[in-house]
Amino acid sequence: MDYQAFIDQQVDELRRTVGDQVAINALSGGVDSSVVTALAHRALGSQLKTVFVDSALMREGEPQSVVKTFADLGIRVDLVDARKAFLDALKGLTDPEQKRHAVTDTFYKTVFGKIVRQTGAKFLLHGTILTDIEETVAGIKRQHNILSQLGIDPKEAYGYHVLEPLKTLRKDGVRAVASLLGLPDSITRRIPFPGPALAARIVGEVTESRLATVRAATAVVEQELADCGAFQYLAVLLNDCATGIRDGKREFGQIIVVRCIESTDARQATVTELPWSTLHRITERIVAIPGVNRCLYDLTPKPPATVEYV
Ligand code: XMP
Repeated sequence: MDYQAFIDQQVDELRRTVGDQVAINALSGGVDSSVVTALAHRALGSQLKTVFVDSALMREGEPQSVVKTFADLGIRVDLVDARKAFLDALKGLTDPEQKRHAVTDTFYKTVFGKIVRQTGAKFLLHGTILTDIEETVAGIKRQHNILSQLGIDPKEAYGYHVLEPLKTLRKDGVRAVASLLGLPDSITRRIPFPGPALAARIVGEVTESRLATVRAATAVVEQELADCGAFQYLAVLLNDCATGIRDGKREFGQIIVVRCIESTDARQATVTELPWSTLHRITERIVAIPGVNRCLYDLTPKPPATVEYV
């Protein structure tokens, strides 16, 4: 495929479709939403409004670093502080599906839905790719129905359009387009990160202090494994505690699981055979996080395990 021709064609089409109206999109910093942002900015300039929603569930420094990466490219991204809304919605929830539902609902209905209405945008850009559509049709993924997720009745919202400029591309195509658009390697080569963010990596209740723990562990794992070439690596906070001993005193500490996998599309995965020295270094840093006294390496392939824990 000629990706430069793809870009030119999409830019043309976006300009023709949006005309002099306003379009909006939510940027997560993942490669799909980043490409939509860069592509639509090229087509629409200041008629595009891009927001990054700080859900309290992101990794260390992530909201600020995504906004800065785009500022360096001349693209303005508005940071929306929705931390309280997400933390309130997750309060007391321990069931994985309920937690995922709370994150999705808060994002679309409470936070983004409101922003869309306030801006009066007539077009919503979404980074759906071909694989998303195929998996939705095959029943592997939950239905992507952006309008209903936003709580918008298509009839009532007549004239409101969802545009999906990447819907003919697969991930490799998206990455090729990302490079042609001048997006940095930190985005084009980013490892996958789930929509529910760190909430997918906390077993049990999501609280600010438990988020701080898994965020610190995630930073350690991402730093130590940055050059290991694996498909994905992550840290998970379990809901159990274990007895330990530190400075001669018994303690009942938290447990972090480290996961590192090889895969091509995350539908199946094997475990990376990391060197002992790497595992030891990670362990040493993880048990230095306040309240954590164990670090485990997950040896389970997918299936039967999934990649995430929630
Ligand atoms: P699982 O845990 O289902 O994950 O084996 C497979 C791949 O998908 C990512 N993942 C998600 N990505 N929204 C996403 O955009 C989600 O809700 C979500 N849940 C899991 C996961 O990180 C892995 O790469």
